[in-house]
Amino acid sequence: MYAHRTGESDGMAVLKIVRMGHPVLLRGAAPIPNPGDPEIRRLAQDMIETMIDADGAGLAAPQVAVPLRLIVFRCRAERVSGAEGDQKLETRVLANPRITPLGDEQVLDWEGCLSIPGMRGAVPRHRRIRYQGVDLEGNQIDVMAENFHARVVQHEVDHLDGILYPMRMQDFRLFGFNDELARAAAAAEAKEHAA
Ligand code: NI
Repeated sequence: MYAHRTGESDGMAVLKIVRMGHPVLLRGAAPIPNPGDPEIRRLAQDMIETMIDADGAGLAAPQVAVPLRLIVFRCRAERVSGAEGDQKLETRVLANPRITPLGDEQVLDWEGCLSIPGMRGAVPRHRRIRYQGVDLEGNQIDVMAENFHARVVQHEVDHLDGILYPMRMQDFRLFGFNDELARAAAAAEAKEHAA
């Protein structure tokens, strides 16, 4: 049914992540009729393995060339603000996620994407959202999230609608390669301390 792996295996697998330019990243993904399906469960496990292997915060099924509405993500302690809706979160799997913005407030912060390796950009996102969906046990998930937690969910759900983070950017001066940006930041800091 899904072409993301060949052969049968009980173990998890690290999947190939497609990069910007692959047409699957620009397509809308299809809803999952039965999130408890063993094949969906296996796909989700493989996506978690792939996200961890790539040291990412999240992964959407289109990024492994499967056009279904499935995302996995995590909120590592060093990324979260500690606010009520922005706590450390081990891996979460969400099928058919939906987002409702809470309030008008937008925040600009840096994002990267496993499909755009080596780069990052500053992307405006809703500070607070409510998101809903279904986990693989069929539980309804209904969560208020803010800051990093809200940002990662918005980024991953965008993948299901064919949207990559540069398409959300408003200032392309805040876009670049990680190593150049790190070098520039270090140079700016050194200059500040010398002044
Ligand atoms: Ni991404």
